[in-house]
Amino acid sequence: MRKIYIFDTTLRDGEQSPGVNLNRKEKVEIALQLEKLGIDRIEAGFPAASPGDLEGVSAVARAVKNATIIGLSRSRIPDIDAVREALKDAQDPCIHLFLATSPIHRKHKLRMEKQQVLETAEAAIRYAKQYFDKIEFSPEDAGRTELDFLCEVTDMAIRAGATVVNIPDTVGYMTPAEFGNIFKTLKTNVPNIESIQLSAHCHDDLGLATANALAAIQNGADQIEGTINGIGERAGNTAIEEVALALATRSEYYQAQTTLNLKEIAKTSRLVSKLTGMVVPGNKAIVGANAFAHESGIHQDGMLKEKTTYEIISPETIGLVESKLVLGKHSGRHAFREKLIDLGYDLGEEELNAAFAKFKDLADKKKTVGDEDIRAMLEEKLVDTPEVYTLEKIQVHYGNQSVPHATVSIAVAGAGMKEDTAEGNGSVDAIYNAIDKVTGEAVELEDYSIKSVTHGKDALGEVHVVLKQNGVTASGRGVRTDILEASARAYVDALNRLIDKRNSPGRRDNMSLI
Ligand code: KIV
Ligand code: ZN
Repeated sequence: MRKIYIFDTTLRDGEQSPGVNLNRKEKVEIALQLEKLGIDRIEAGFPAASPGDLEGVSAVARAVKNATIIGLSRSRIPDIDAVREALKDAQDPCIHLFLATSPIHRKHKLRMEKQQVLETAEAAIRYAKQYFDKIEFSPEDAGRTELDFLCEVTDMAIRAGATVVNIPDTVGYMTPAEFGNIFKTLKTNVPNIESIQLSAHCHDDLGLATANALAAIQNGADQIEGTINGIGERAGNTAIEEVALALATRSEYYQAQTTLNLKEIAKTSRLVSKLTGMVVPGNKAIVGANAFAHESGIHQDGMLKEKTTYEIISPETIGLVESKLVLGKHSGRHAFREKLIDLGYDLGEEELNAAFAKFKDLADKKKTVGDEDIRAMLEEKLVDTPEVYTLEKIQVHYGNQSVPHATVSIAVAGAGMKEDTAEGNGSVDAIYNAIDKVTGEAVELEDYSIKSVTHGKDALGEVHVVLKQNGVTASGRGVRTDILEASARAYVDALNRLIDKRNSPGRRDNMSLI
């Protein structure tokens, strides 16, 4: 079996998803989980984009020991120097240089002729080679680049010192047959092609990112780039979990495999969803809530008789273990601790006490507390955001014949308790207007979504919001049995994150890749 290297760009291309902006601690938390997943190469960011990005990449480079850490760079000396600075403490650094090669990009974006593109990229690779042993070069929009020119560019990159040539389908335009053919052509026409690795980087605009990545593997690609949950620019990137499970499930067919620790997939997916605020759709392959749910009678009957009738991957493969121990309001601290260990949480004494208090509160409202409830409860807070605002109380008056109004009490750091009342066109709107009055923050609600964590009338509701202020966005999450309280908590969480971003110098919200 051929090994397929996995290059994760959740922290770079994934972070280019609208509304996603990870801080340094969040990047490190995700990177450490990617390391546990066994990712070979982690693209941690684009250091030249902002001082905040550079810091984020350096923090990941210092924290991760068992993966190559990569920084993105345009084909320009100041960008390359920024990557050098960001990766100076990395055990295994790599620079990812790119320059667009397609006729559309050459004409309209770069205003360069083919020769200039070749010279600019070559100069950048040669400059970078003085400082990096590992260099990946990407001809951006390779999918729409003339094949003979792509061969020329790849040949130049090899001669200049690149160790990986990545073929991006930047706009998600390729079909599997066309994309596969690019790899086949490069493999047969470019001299010394076997001295480097070929990589595939696909976008999902036509829903073909995974199919294209697999076609690349069939035609000789050594590396697949992608993100967890398939997040990324526009419709997103290849979902790493999809490629990994396709290879694991159909290894005989593909004759290729990854060295990922598949049991970490569910946990990694949840972490990325939590920290980016990007909810995973229920029907998402591999990691969606319904990916292993069998609804129709015929399917359920088949599953009871023999699982393989309708199940090609077991939930355990990706680390979804439903433990037998069901908790309720009479469960004690010992049982709760056992459950946490079962679910893979390793909490210190203080955290355990806080979690147990939350569990008791939840068990008072919910007859049985399942694994998903516990996960949602423990993972409610987005990491380490200083709490300028803490929601203490909400009171809502609602009637379908009257105007809803809400009163909220919020503890404001350094200013004590504040309370205010507001009306709205619905209960959630009234709560959000009241919070705005208390905080005095002028924010726009960019996105609001709600989902039920489990089934039943007493299920926990999980709310995600995205707030925007002066071009800066932040997401927040709230989980409660009462969806109005969950909505209020998500809003206050997002406000705290917005303030945290405002107070962190050198952040960027929009990355220019020109
Ligand atoms: O999609 C793309 O072309 C990219 C490059 C920077 C590799 O993300
Ligand atoms: Zn991309």
